[in-house]
Amino acid sequence: MYRNLKEVTEFAEKTNMTIGSFNTHNLEMLPSILRAAKNVGTPISIQTSVGTAEYIGHSILVSVVKSFANNEMVEAVLHLDHAKDFDDIKKAIDAGYSSVMFDGSDLPFKENVLKTKAIVEYAHPRNVSVEAELGTIGGTEEGITIESSEAVLTDPEDAKKFVELTGVDLLAVAIGTNHGQYKSKTNCNIPLLKRIHSVVDVPLVVHGGTGVRESEYPNLINNGIRKFNVGTELLINWNEEAKNLFSETPVDRSLRHNVIPANEEIQQIVEHKLNLFRNLDNM
Ligand code: 13P
Repeated sequence: MYRNLKEVTEFAEKTNMTIGSFNTHNLEMLPSILRAAKNVGTPISIQTSVGTAEYIGHSILVSVVKSFANNEMVEAVLHLDHAKDFDDIKKAIDAGYSSVMFDGSDLPFKENVLKTKAIVEYAHPRNVSVEAELGTIGGTEEGITIESSEAVLTDPEDAKKFVELTGVDLLAVAIGTNHGQYKSKTNCNIPLLKRIHSVVDVPLVVHGGTGVRESEYPNLINNGIRKFNVGTELLINWNEEAKNLFSETPVDRSLRHNVIPANEEIQQIVEHKLNLFRNLDNM
């Protein structure tokens, strides 16, 4: 079934697990990510940047995720990641995305509240869930770098006020994670997450999941993280595998011989993550 994030995170809340949300960068890798969810038997969220949505085509992405979800009995969400413009969000919703993120984290608090609220008012009557962000998450995304020294952690009281004023379904929190952190790993601020979780009653989201140690997952899930974003780890592994194969394959050989192993590589990673996201040691 094709779902929105509110629906699948309600299930995650009941079962104390988290929903894996994986960035796809092309159409090739998408069925493999979805297949991983079918094999593990958990819901999944697919997310695209605005740039990827424009590149592939919004309605093509909607068709692929919807038809896989319906034909293969997988609970799947299609989510727009880090959109900053109302027009980009409207385009995704009108094309059939089931969830969107408005990222007003670099705006003054009041402006972030007002703009997020306007998105919620457009999305909710159309059964589309809305994620917003408070605080800034460091790292690099789509080529834009935020230095760790500029990253501002989420203030729990601001988060409570923000959620009440906007009516968002999920809140992305800045607790020390960074986008695009592949080799090194981050130290998540669990005491801060606990304080946010104790005053905010919507599901919380971790961005920059590639840079989080797997041993930290239970700590995050047990303290309210219901959506867990992973992008860079898939991208790097897909590119590495495809790059090696493309460099050594004759140009008249079907390119599927180079692409299928790259897809299989990331399917294994997604299956591994989804298994951990079930949080089975904490039943
Ligand atoms: P990583 O690319 O660091 O895993 O982060 C993904 C993400 O948070 C997308 O919004």
